[in-house]
Amino acid sequence: MADSKKWVVMATAQTPTNIAVIKYWGKRDETLILPVNDSISVTLDPSHLCTTTTVAVSPGFEQDRMWLNGKEISLSGGRFQSCLREIRSRACDVEDKEKGIKIEKKDWEKLHVHIASYNNFPTAAGLASSAAGLACLVFSLAKLMNLKENPSQLSAIARQGSGSACRSLFGGFVKWIMGKDENGSDSLAVQLVEEEHWNELVIIIAVVSARQKETSSTSGMRESVETSLLLQHRAKEIVPKRIVKMEEAIKNRDFSSFAQLTCADSNQFHAVCLDTSPPIFYMNDTSHRIISYVEKWNRSEGSPQVAYTFDAGPNAVLIARNRQVAAQLLQRLLFFFPPNSDTDLNSYVLGDKSILHDAGIGDLKDVEALQCPPEITNVPAQKYTGEINNFICTKPGRGPVLLSDESKALLNLETGLPK
Ligand code: DP6
Repeated sequence: MADSKKWVVMATAQTPTNIAVIKYWGKRDETLILPVNDSISVTLDPSHLCTTTTVAVSPGFEQDRMWLNGKEISLSGGRFQSCLREIRSRACDVEDKEKGIKIEKKDWEKLHVHIASYNNFPTAAGLASSAAGLACLVFSLAKLMNLKENPSQLSAIARQGSGSACRSLFGGFVKWIMGKDENGSDSLAVQLVEEEHWNELVIIIAVVSARQKETSSTSGMRESVETSLLLQHRAKEIVPKRIVKMEEAIKNRDFSSFAQLTCADSNQFHAVCLDTSPPIFYMNDTSHRIISYVEKWNRSEGSPQVAYTFDAGPNAVLIARNRQVAAQLLQRLLFFFPPNSDTDLNSYVLGDKSILHDAGIGDLKDVEALQCPPEITNVPAQKYTGEINNFICTKPGRGPVLLSDESKALLNLETGLPK
């Protein structure tokens, strides 16, 4: 190791979040985070939803430290510690000849790291920030410490930070194989197809306004494992068959089967939550209204145009079969859920705003002029102004990347502290 206490070596990475279309709900091992069933997710475009993390190492650092969205947080939790331990044990030699720095494998046990992480979407919005966050932590540390492990092997480390994080190590559609080993070595994520495979899909997330205090996924699924018989049946009998069908639907870009399986699995996950004692309510009236509208529209079209799925909260993730359908979906959503009069459209519809353009909507007057969708027969249809905080238009996206541009780093190269 170079003598100088001054040097700092850094790596910065960007990692996407993901949404499960076959849900992970229930662990068979709480410490290693081993699930009771396989799950499948789609990775979301990191330009709209992602975590950026910079990790740095220096002989001048006195302890491991982490900052999330600019605020220092504790790294003492068991899950952070598991990830750090697993990564350190696999670290390799690192040499920067230009700067005259050499870190040997054995040095990593003594060196401390600084970690700064930032989400490009509000953490409080209840979107899966832990998945992107833990995946990014593992990916960036693996780059810094020159790990030789492939993304699937890294996913098994990210899994120990948060189960769903293991699926954020890849783009496109991803499967988390539950595995059989007691030590968890075969419980890891694999990519099913790249994001280009099904690039017609458009995803619209409806971020619901009124949010009650929610049960965390971790404690919710623990209670479900302890009390729900439906969970046992789902894990043993339903999910294995559904996984096979879902893989087939994704491979063949069969939207009808994909949508039917996605909606059924989301509904069954929420049924398991209701079957838990005491019952857990993640969806609210707004979520239920969105399900009804989508079901009605899909039925009137004769085949599914849009799939819906909900995680451990009321936000709807809607997957449209193509751009044209996405524009019609956005018109419907804005008709039923117009913004408050003091909200400007630019902050109400976020992400890929070209969908708004396709929908022929330029300002709030266009929203007011929207006609009631033809499938709604009980006119005048009721509108629910203000029930949605905002919409995010996005699409399936790529996996983690290393950012080489130093201006993107969240830590200062001189001090190793947040910029
Ligand atoms: C409903 O991955 O957040 O989003 O492993 O305890 O950290 P822990 O739970 P977490 O659970 C995610 C549950 C879900 C479904 C899914 O993403 O598959």
